[in-house]
Amino acid sequence: PTPRDLEGVKVVVSAGPTREYLDPVRFISNPSSGKMGLAVAEEARDRGAEVTLVTGPVSLPDPSGVRVVRIESALELRDAVVGAAGDAEIVVMTAAVADYRAAERSDEKQAKVAGDVTVHLTPNPDILAELGVQKGNRVLVGFAMETHAGVERAALKARRKNADFILLNYPTREGTAFGGDDNEVTLVRPDGSHEAWPRLSKREVARRLLDEACRVRERRRET
Ligand code: C5P
Repeated sequence: PTPRDLEGVKVVVSAGPTREYLDPVRFISNPSSGKMGLAVAEEARDRGAEVTLVTGPVSLPDPSGVRVVRIESALELRDAVVGAAGDAEIVVMTAAVADYRAAERSDEKQAKVAGDVTVHLTPNPDILAELGVQKGNRVLVGFAMETHAGVERAALKARRKNADFILLNYPTREGTAFGGDDNEVTLVRPDGSHEAWPRLSKREVARRLLDEACRVRERRRET
């Protein structure tokens, strides 16, 4: 049976890709399906949490019993997550945030020209890192996708962003990560300690993620 260990706890989950528009009809994005974030939101809801799911464009229906905020760009994602995170105790960033947006977004559709074009991109804010600066008692969880030196890079990322732990996955494993129903992740803590989990359903990954978040929360409340 599902434990009710998050009764009344406010949880914020971000999910899906962001879209960074170049003009009204063209954007930079990625293939994130939003399934991992949805699984975390549903699992937290079933454990009694008050859940806000901030999601980029995904083709999944809104889950019931969850407050859903739909956004498109990383800047909109930041506003929604920071707004909801104020009184949240757990924030899980599964969203695949675009690292860059167009430096200037055109209000008119850009006409095709002969030859190459150059697009000037500017970095998006790192939302997880921003939350890490004003962390308070919140438990902050991130995801990371790496092709090499995963554990070291993820631990470094957790320290840099002041996250409590990061779930590391690899884009190359068949049937996991982008779009799939399963995920194969390694839990990485800021001190570099880590646990490789077997291939699991995204719901089971969500369950273990929230178990770990509850352990971090308990430890923090004891000190
Ligand atoms: O640095 P990297 O993109 O690999 O970090 C991934 C983690 O940071 C994810 O949890 C993602 O949601 C979060 N992130 C963020 N804002 C960004 C980029 C990533 O919150 N601009």
